[in-house]
This record gives sequence, C-alpha cells and structure tokens, in this order.
Amino acid sequence: MDKRPIGVFDSGLGGLTAVKELRRILPNEDIVYFGDTGRVPYGTRSDETIIRYARSDMDFLLKHEPKRVLVACGTVSTVALPILKKEYDLPIDGVVEAAARSAAKLTKKGVVGVMGTPATIRSGEYERLLKSFAPGIRTVSAACPLLVPLVENGRISPDDIVISTVVSEYLAEIKSEGVDVLIMGCTHYPLLEPVVAAFMGENTQLVSPGREAAALIARELRENGNGNSPGRRGEAEYFVSDSVEGFSALAETFLREKVTGSVSLVDIE
Ligand code: DGL
Repeated sequence: MDKRPIGVFDSGLGGLTAVKELRRILPNEDIVYFGDTGRVPYGTRSDETIIRYARSDMDFLLKHEPKRVLVACGTVSTVALPILKKEYDLPIDGVVEAAARSAAKLTKKGVVGVMGTPATIRSGEYERLLKSFAPGIRTVSAACPLLVPLVENGRISPDDIVISTVVSEYLAEIKSEGVDVLIMGCTHYPLLEPVVAAFMGENTQLVSPGREAAALIARELRENGNGNSPGRRGEAEYFVSDSVEGFSALAETFLREKVTGSVSLVDIE
C-alpha cells in the first residue's frame, strides 16, 4: 500500500479531464493537481520553453511527495516526457502512448486522425507511436492553436457558433480523409467532445488521452499493490499559477463535480 498522492499537472484546466477519470476509477487515491494557468497555453511555444515549464511544474509537485506523476498535458507528453523521465526519480506517465495504443486497436480502416496543439503535431510523436503499434496505419493530423484559449474561456457549448466554426475548419481535412478514429490529442479537447462528435459524425470514434492514461495508472497500481487504502474517499488539492476564482468557476465544468478540495495560488516562477 502507498498512501502518497498522485501528482497531476497540465498547462491549465485541461488536465482536469484526466483527474475526473482518476477520481472515477481510483476514488480512494489522493490527488495533487497543478494547473499552470498563468503561463497557458504551452502548445504554441518552442520546445525549449515547454521543457523549462515542465521542469518547474515537476519541481513544484515533488514538494508534495507524490508516489507518481501524471503529465496530463499532450504537449508536455510529446515534447518533454523522455527528458522528465531521465531527470526525475519516480514513475512518470504521459497521456500519449496509451491513447495511441487504444486508437491503433480501434481503427478498422487503418486511418487515424490526430488533433493537437502545434507543438504536439510538430513533434510527430502520435504518428510515430501509431506506426510502431500497427505499421500500416495512416495518420492525418491537424494543429489546432485556437482551441486551448477558447476552452480556457469556457467556449465549449455545441451551440456556440465560434467554437463550432473553429472546430469545423480545423477538422475539415481529417474528416474528408475518412478517418474512423480521432485522437483528441490535447487534454483540453474532451471538453469539446460534443462539438467534435457533431462535426465528425457517428462513424468516428473519439479517443480521450486522459481517460486512457487513467486506466493505465489504475492497472499499474493494482498490479504493483501501490494503491491507497480501499474504502476511503480520496481528497483532491488544487494549485494554480493565476486567478483562483477563475479556476474554481470553470473547474466544475471540467470535473463534472463540485471542487471540494482547496484551491491555492502558487508563484511558479
Ligand atoms: N492540455 C494541454 C495539452 O494537452 C494544452 C496545451 C496548451 O497549453 O497549449 O496539450
């Protein structure tokens, strides 16, 4: 048994879609979440900046002595994960590999769409992983730079003309290539699932990286006996690098539950 919390971080609110899954399948675990709301978005920045931010996020979380860390950010997972794994001496999971594995299994046509931040798409990591799991797979990718700022501003309703228009423009090529599986390759995007699903139609299956990663962590904790005591209700503590009020207001949409744990401001710089 290991009673230490699971550390989770993202550039902002997106990682909460992974926290929601962790809370659902591992309700007895404590979670410490850091959302770098003062420096979001990461996905339009250089690799050097993303790596620097990721290191400071890790350093902050380590003060809370987590038993492992989930990098609940597609951008950091594609750009910085191997570096973090080399530099920090604890288990670190990203959100990309589990999503790619699941998409490779799901596709019948062998054509998979990937939507992500510019940094994620530039890294080519999804394409590489998909090919390693199923060499015949063809990947159609779309960089979607405007989606994270829109989601962080709560523009997620399918009735919102702005988000619907932006999503249809970004996904037009992916749709026309006839993909049957689409990886929502940024943890902010599951909030847009109704908008994306409405545009892609019912024949496209959507893969959420946070959900896949949470399932993987649950399996690992079970297999290695590193879970917290069964039967208890785990607590979640939240830290952000910008307005606590702004975070609390939107977090409930992301988590689909009341934010019961404390939310505190951190000076990450
Ligand atoms: N949730 C992050 C991701 O999964 C968003 C990155 C950003 O801040 O642009 O990529």
